[in-house]
Amino acid sequence: MIEISHLTKKYGNIMAINNISFSVQKGEIVGFLGPNGAGKTTTMKIITGFMAPSSGVAKVAGHDVFENPIEVKKRIGYLPETPPVYSDMLVKDYLEYVARLKKMPSNKITKGVEQALEKTNLTQVHKRLIGNLSKGFRQRVGIAQALVHSPEVLILDEPTVGLDPKQVIEIRNLIKGLAGEHTVILSTHVLPEVTATCKRIIIINKGEIVAEDTFEGLSSRMSDTRRFYVRVRRPANFEGHIKSVSGVRSFKFANNSFEVELDKSDDSNEKLSEVVVKSGAGLLEFRAVDVSLEDIFLKLTTTDTGGVA
Ligand SMILES: Nc1ncnc2c1ncn2[C@@H]1O[C@H](COP(=O)(O)OP(=O)(O)OP(=O)(O)O)[C@@H](O)[C@H]1O
Ligand SMILES: [Mg+2]
Repeated sequence: MIEISHLTKKYGNIMAINNISFSVQKGEIVGFLGPNGAGKTTTMKIITGFMAPSSGVAKVAGHDVFENPIEVKKRIGYLPETPPVYSDMLVKDYLEYVARLKKMPSNKITKGVEQALEKTNLTQVHKRLIGNLSKGFRQRVGIAQALVHSPEVLILDEPTVGLDPKQVIEIRNLIKGLAGEHTVILSTHVLPEVTATCKRIIIINKGEIVAEDTFEGLSSRMSDTRRFYVRVRRPANFEGHIKSVSGVRSFKFANNSFEVELDKSDDSNEKLSEVVVKSGAGLLEFRAVDVSLEDIFLKLTTTDTGGVA
């Protein structure tokens, strides 16, 4: 449904994205994850036809974004980083206006607006002036305008920014519910967001894709080690005991506890637990630590050499 090939965008001397390629199948929800300045917004602006790339091609539903902009815009709902809402319009009037802009058939507009209001919990404020709404409510109006014409493709640039926790969960569920019929790319800094909503994750760093996989795939590819959390009563001299275990790659100490990174082998596990118990440091807790998306993200975006895709 979305085909990106060899996209590059330079702003003067700044290489915002560098030769990136990926595709998204119909019905997929893909998370676009990366630190500030990675190139997420730039990529999304190109897919939605808001900006031309320096080189490369973006296609939506088989249409080149720049050769057939009207065909593409009809199919896309876009929530930009700063929602494009008019503060001097009423919520409902604004959504009707957007629906008309998107060339929605006029007999479908009332229903479409009603549904968008319901999905984003805005029904109660539909007669309020957008400019008087709180930030979170304005964000919801931004999401509603992206959804109003029920587009095949949704491009959401940080959709839950500024929302309260309850609304974050509701919007996540709303996005999850779009899978199958709609194709969604969402960008976020909030790591749990991608695990909660997306099947596939694309991690971008300094304008390049450094990983592209499911969360499970990323975890297993990343981890040739296991991590253990060890808390002891008397940490003095305990470090020396840990160092003596073969297979220990690294460890961190904080608040009477150690996080030990160990080669992935049962022998090493056994040896570590044996040494901990025999050290006399007073074992209080010993457990395996799961690799989190945060670990993967940091590993891929803080080393210059990292990269698994
Ligand atoms: N209009 C512009 N002119 C010059 N440089 C720009 C412009 N827009 C973006 N950039 C630069 O391009 C790079 C990518 O920016 P982009 O906004 O795509 O990142 P991002 O991943 O969306 O970041 P964030 O998480 O902060 O939103 C950055 O180095 C940014 O400074
Ligand atoms: Mg951005």
